[in-house]
Amino acid sequence: MSSPAGPAPDAPKTRAGASSLKDGGTVVPVREILWGDSVGVRKYETAEELDPDLAKLIVKLMVVQADTEFASIQQHRPWLDSAPTLEDRWIESRIVADEARHGLQACRILRDFGETGQRYIDELLAKREGEHKLDAFNMKFDRWSDVGAFTCFVDRVGVYQLRAFQECSYGPLARAMPLMLSEEQLHLNFGASVLRRMVLDGPKYCGSKDEAQAAVRKWYPRALDMFGHSNSDTSRRAIAYGLKRWTNEEARARYIQEVSALVASIGLELPSPDFDRRVL
Ligand SMILES: [Fe+2]
Ligand SMILES: [Fe+2]
Repeated sequence: MSSPAGPAPDAPKTRAGASSLKDGGTVVPVREILWGDSVGVRKYETAEELDPDLAKLIVKLMVVQADTEFASIQQHRPWLDSAPTLEDRWIESRIVADEARHGLQACRILRDFGETGQRYIDELLAKREGEHKLDAFNMKFDRWSDVGAFTCFVDRVGVYQLRAFQECSYGPLARAMPLMLSEEQLHLNFGASVLRRMVLDGPKYCGSKDEAQAAVRKWYPRALDMFGHSNSDTSRRAIAYGLKRWTNEEARARYIQEVSALVASIGLELPSPDFDRRVL
C-alpha cells in the first residue's frame, strides 16, 4: 500500500509528466478529497472510518442507486425478445446485464455497512414493479418508443449522478464509477439512436415520429424530477462531505442544456422544463 503522503520515489511519474499507458505508464489515483469541507484530507476507504452522518448519507444514496438499477431490469425485460431488430434485442440484453452489474456494485458498497447494509439489500431484492422510489422506474415500457426515450433521458440522468460521484470522498464509490459510466454511455447513445431511427424511417423501422415525440413528452418530465428538489438539504450535505459535486439545480440545468441540443438535432421538440413536473 502506498503511503498517504504520496507515491513511492520509484513510482511512475505524477500527472504533470505522466508517461502514457501505451508506454507502460500508470494512472495515478487521486488520494485526497477534492471538494467540500475536508478538501486535502485523505479519502475515506472503509465504512468504519466514516462520520455516522456521512455513513447514513452514503447508504441512502446507494439504496436509491441500486433501486433504479434493479427496477430498470424489470422495465426492460419484456423487450428482450420483442425489440424490432436482432441488433436491438442484443443491445437490450446488454443493457439488462449492465444494470444487474450496477445493482450488484451498489450492493457491494452497502455490504460494507454490515447488518444495516444487508437489511437494505434484502429489501431491494424483494421489490416488485410499482414499488420503487422514483416515479420514472414505476412506469411500464408500453411501446418501443418508451425504451428509446427512457434510455435517452432517464439513463442520461443516471450518468449525471454517477459523474457527481466520480472522484468523491469515499474511495470504494469513486473507483466504481469509470466502468459504470462507460456502460451507461452505451445505453443513452442507444436511446438517442432509437428515437432518431423512428423519426427518419418511421414504420420501416418501428413506430413513427409522432410516437417518438409523445415518448419525449412522457419521459422528459420524469427525468427532470429525478434530480430531486431544488433546495435539497441532502444534496447540500453531500457536497459538503465531498460526495456529490453539484447541487440538484446545477446538475438539472446542465442536463437541460445538453438534451435541448440533442433533441433538436433528432428533429423532435422538448416541452418546457415546467411541463408535468412533480418534484420541484
Ligand atoms: Fe445503470
Ligand atoms: Fe443504464
